[in-house]
Amino acid sequence: MRRDPIADGASPRKRESKVEAAVSHLTGKLRGLADVRSPTDAEEPILGGGVRSSIFGWLAEINAADELAAVGIKPRSTALLSGPPGCGKTTLAHHLSARLGVPLVCVGAENIFGKYLGESEGNIAKLFDTLALADTSAVILIDEIDAIGAKRSDETGGGATSARNSMLTVLLRRIEEFKGVLVAATNRPDSLDPALWRRFGMQIVVDLPDDDARFAILKRYGMPFDFGDDAIEILTDLTDGAAPSLLRQLMEGVKRSLVLGDRIRQPATTAAGTFATIIAQSKPHPDYEPPPLWQNPSLVSKLQDLPWPPKREGV
Ligand SMILES: Nc1ncnc2c1ncn2[C@@H]1O[C@H](COP(=O)(O)OP(=O)(O)O)[C@@H](O)[C@H]1O
Ligand SMILES: [Mg+2]
Repeated sequence: MRRDPIADGASPRKRESKVEAAVSHLTGKLRGLADVRSPTDAEEPILGGGVRSSIFGWLAEINAADELAAVGIKPRSTALLSGPPGCGKTTLAHHLSARLGVPLVCVGAENIFGKYLGESEGNIAKLFDTLALADTSAVILIDEIDAIGAKRSDETGGGATSARNSMLTVLLRRIEEFKGVLVAATNRPDSLDPALWRRFGMQIVVDLPDDDARFAILKRYGMPFDFGDDAIEILTDLTDGAAPSLLRQLMEGVKRSLVLGDRIRQPATTAAGTFATIIAQSKPHPDYEPPPLWQNPSLVSKLQDLPWPPKREGV
């Protein structure tokens, strides 16, 4: 793997301006083909122990490329992230790019598909050629890769089928040849073509958060309000099965009511009433079973004896 020219050696300020230059360079070159994000905008996802240690090990491997090369092995450079929507696949890829100090290049199926024969293959080629020519490293994220890399079909005759198969062949070859770090994300790992599945050095499952992770996520997105550990504990139980994105929506909605209250006609008079309003306005993803609070909103009554409103830290 190519060593990262951005992260090596330079002072922090110099490094940051180099990274920003790389972000704008790639943004210009990849307009319409990818969304380029700066590593400085990344957030760290709160993840279960298994995923955390996989990522920790992977970063150590990438950073020790020279030592590994000395004994004849290469660090793994590709990973497939799978798991339900809103659990942090995109956030994790961005965090990874931040840890490597390079931009994240996000490519979605909508960027690849073209109307004309051969257009999709052309888009894939242009993406990888541009990255190979750019004098900078990046992490590529191919989002919803199942849309591009569904199982190939043997059916003959269908023009759409053969176009799909040829696109997948191009993608497989390009992933194989790519020299940097490549991550793909999918909610439907089962539908991926087996050859594509095998191309990834690591398979990481980013699943719905367990109790400890939900506790930490609720607390993070409740900040700077201190709801108290008792309240967060109750919410942790009542949100079993919720994705982090839904937990974020819930806590941010409550904070909005706490700050704007009467002005948005959502006075945050009681804990139960405030949470009930936000629950009614947010919907769990239809792909999974709704958490208890959404199945039975009257469970908010469990919050009624809590001290309210929560204290705002630093005020
Ligand atoms: N594990 C997590 N920890 C903290 N926040 C998360 C986590 N997963 C998702 N989020 C938040 O939910 C939103 C959607 O997450 P995203 O990474 O796009 O999920 P996915 O790519 O798996 O659909 C983001 O705003 C992110 O901040
Ligand atoms: Mg995503």
